[in-house]
Amino acid sequence: MKTAVCPGSFDPVTFGHLDIIRRAAGMFDRVIVAVMTNAAKQPMFTKEERVEFLRRATAGLDNVEIDSFEGLLADYARQKNATVIVKGLRAMSDFEYEFQMALTNRRLNPETETAFLTTTAEHMYLSSSLVKQVAEFGGDITGFVPDGIIEDIMNKVSKAGQAAAARE
Ligand code: PNS
Repeated sequence: MKTAVCPGSFDPVTFGHLDIIRRAAGMFDRVIVAVMTNAAKQPMFTKEERVEFLRRATAGLDNVEIDSFEGLLADYARQKNATVIVKGLRAMSDFEYEFQMALTNRRLNPETETAFLTTTAEHMYLSSSLVKQVAEFGGDITGFVPDGIIEDIMNKVSKAGQAAAARE
């Protein structure tokens, strides 16, 4: 049984992530989507919220599981007996950072390969930070994220906005 891990911060999950998850689900027996910590990012959503959004968004995919982990991806992949780490690659700007992570992960865990799936042209521009920015300014995020999580995102963004206004 071939297990793949799709790691990310998923803050929040977008149609770009879902495209990669769906395609990975067609290639491997078991796909574990793991919500992890990116030390360079300050997330807007809690890990529990991000896991819940992913659960809803992947409800129809039978071989996809959602999990979260605090620690090194290389250790997590080993723990789950994953042979592959699947990552989406959007454009040249992603490449250097992803290449560095793939090499570091191979050094830490030589048993797990990193495989890159190039994003579809339709999702080339899409990112979680773009979704948050559009939402923060009251824009319509339909078509960026699944309908089932839009309300939660808008509520969170509006709460964060109110809290910031109260501090001013
Ligand atoms: O969606 P992101 O933010 O690009 O995902 C990056 C993530 C969370 C996969 C990466 O930061 C990660 O692997 N974090 C876990 C800790 C770790 O292993 N860091 C070293 C990576 S070489």
